[in-house]
Amino acid sequence: MSLTVHPFFEAASGSYSFIVANPESAICAIVDPALGLGDDQSINTNCADLMLDWVQAQRFTVRWILETHVHADRPSAAGYLKQHLLCAQTVIGADTPDVSGFDRLVNDGDKLCLGHACARVIATPGHTPGCVSYQFNDFVFVGDTLFMPDTGTARCDFPGGCPVRLYASIQKILALPNETRLYVCHDYGGEGRRHRFVTTVAEEKAQNVHVGAAVPLEEFVVMRTTRDAKLDEPRWSAIAIPANLRCMSLSGIQTLVAASAPHGGH
Ligand SMILES: [Fe+2]
Repeated sequence: MSLTVHPFFEAASGSYSFIVANPESAICAIVDPALGLGDDQSINTNCADLMLDWVQAQRFTVRWILETHVHADRPSAAGYLKQHLLCAQTVIGADTPDVSGFDRLVNDGDKLCLGHACARVIATPGHTPGCVSYQFNDFVFVGDTLFMPDTGTARCDFPGGCPVRLYASIQKILALPNETRLYVCHDYGGEGRRHRFVTTVAEEKAQNVHVGAAVPLEEFVVMRTTRDAKLDEPRWSAIAIPANLRCMSLSGIQTLVAASAPHGGH
């Protein structure tokens, strides 16, 4: 029986979280779980709770909570989920600077088993230095290494980000077989289309607006550097980055939000 993939969308940040399940052994993994953060700085667990509901309804055991990287635009639900899923191990790339609180730090080539099926860790630095992708047979969770073809690629101007490294990481992904499915972490919709969460190596090679049709490294670096210089800091990065580096619980994140809120009065 093959693995199944189930997307969950957190609309405020345009984030996709996934459950990848092995029905044969009733084991699953959660990938890039997101918390919602509203305009009034209220945190919601809607997306994470839908994942918990799914797991309970299916009676699956969650073995792994996998992060592709430290997200800068929204808090992770990894710490929140861990409190509900006592058997689950939280995982992130070992090259993530100053990371703490995770159960396991992984490197390129490491294996994470889900019953008889295993994920292979592919180091994909560039967007951040610790980015990793998780490959299961014929599909990969690529995090922010690639977006949908009409959106291109993620910024490289966070601390430790590097367009040269991102280009090399993208080439690793595009060297996989054409039919390989790529599950992305973000989609903001596009001109006349709905949100999407999966593409393929063939589609990205042919159509990605930043790297498709074999765009050379030099051209990519100039494009990425020019674009990044015009981008604003993500709105919630002062909360998301420290929270996600430490795999914070919901109460820890709420404390961080309260401390960062503007104080009224005298
Ligand atoms: Fe990101």
